[in-house]
Amino acid sequence: MSNFIVDPSMPLTGLINLAQPLSFAGYQASGGYQGAQKALKMSSAQCLDVVKDSGLKGRGGAGFPTGMKWSFVPMFAEDDVNAPDNKYLVCNADEMEPGTFKDRLLIEGNPQQLVESMLIGAYTIGANKAYIFLRGEYFLAAKRIQTAIDEAYKAGWLGTNIQGSNYQLDLYLHTSAGRYICGEETALINALEGKRANPRAKPPFPQVSGLFGKPTIVNNVETLCNLPHIFKHGGDWFKDFSPNSDPGSKIYGASGRVKNPGLWEMPMGMTIGHVLNDKAKGMQDGLKFRGLLPGGASTDFLVEEHLDTPMDYDNIAKAGSRLGTAGLIVLDDHNCPVGMVLNLLQFFAQESCGYCTPCRDGTPWVVEILTRIEQGNGTLADIDSLEKLCDFMWIGKTHCALAPGAVEPLRSALKYFHDDFLEHIDKGCCPIKHGNKPATL
Ligand code: NAI
Repeated sequence: MSNFIVDPSMPLTGLINLAQPLSFAGYQASGGYQGAQKALKMSSAQCLDVVKDSGLKGRGGAGFPTGMKWSFVPMFAEDDVNAPDNKYLVCNADEMEPGTFKDRLLIEGNPQQLVESMLIGAYTIGANKAYIFLRGEYFLAAKRIQTAIDEAYKAGWLGTNIQGSNYQLDLYLHTSAGRYICGEETALINALEGKRANPRAKPPFPQVSGLFGKPTIVNNVETLCNLPHIFKHGGDWFKDFSPNSDPGSKIYGASGRVKNPGLWEMPMGMTIGHVLNDKAKGMQDGLKFRGLLPGGASTDFLVEEHLDTPMDYDNIAKAGSRLGTAGLIVLDDHNCPVGMVLNLLQFFAQESCGYCTPCRDGTPWVVEILTRIEQGNGTLADIDSLEKLCDFMWIGKTHCALAPGAVEPLRSALKYFHDDFLEHIDKGCCPIKHGNKPATL
């Protein structure tokens, strides 16, 4: 696990203990399950209002308003509670976005928090079955979350008549067989049903027709982990936590050749420069900053001029990128941007489900062209082709967000690092690998 120092004043990570996470008893003694206790005394509709009023937005990458998403689930009538198999809550813990490792921290460091979150979420939407869909390689997280689930059953926070109420919830852990596309919510649902993990056409959205055709909410780990705190302290506390219009905290990350790669929970809206220079301690000695992907690999590059941009959904969008997972992937001057984008596109090409033509044929085509350029065999026509492919693989022309996500680092690299592409073509080689700048320190 990466660098992480606990800040007890932070809601989601303040109780993290990576060496030995809190047991059920320890979690409860530290204030755990107070949010769930409050929720169980309210009706589902009242709980939904709490989530809507809080202004919580999805932390998986897309930033969709959580309360609005939940409000699309039909049937909030009391007599639906405990109707068998009527709705589902699914936690998307299939964390595979490159440069993103925040959900792993939350699950390994405080698994009871996620169990409480699942209880609050499932109760709110009136689901009696909930699933945690976990990345297959997260072995330690799997062990710890299963222990937490077992402990919660024993303590009467899962199962039938939870804490004396007439509400029942069964929570299951499902470990993924391992594909990036399983993190797309409808592909995840297909995988959970035992089918090939191709994304489904939307609409219908899962909120209406999801797992086994029933209304289903799929939310990211970090999104859900906000619930115990919102219910415990209230929506106003959540809004006040952040200095700007996007409420709550955010777990920011940094990877690449910075001095102190890691994860930090802070209020939403800290500037990119603060995360990069104050938390990640800037570039390693001898290296210069060139740019970064602000929210995992499927976001657009930002550069020096953007370092004062607050990391929230609107401001990062205004700067020309997306907040995504808020995991910075930092590019330095000894690494070739063409090579970096090639590396990312190889990943996306390998992870394409192959269903739609722009993604199935577009991603390997981009890899072929970038390989040619990176090896010094490219032409100016190749740059034109890449620009056309960025359009061909964009939103609205593909079955899901994978190909548009793959295009984001590419199109922004063509914008900010255009000269690097031209230099490869001019010199017939990678100027960083073969020029006067060493590729590695
Ligand atoms: P999306 O914007 O299509 O949907 C986000 C959520 O909002 C979904 O739950 C969807 O059902 C809901 N939604 C959107 N429009 C709706 C509408 N009109 N009516 C009802 N519900 C609606 O984005 P998507 O494809 O779910 O996620 C893409 C994001 O995932 C990317 O931004 C990327 O950053 C992130 N991602 C994160 C990964 C990770 O490991 N955390 C891995 C891969 C991608």
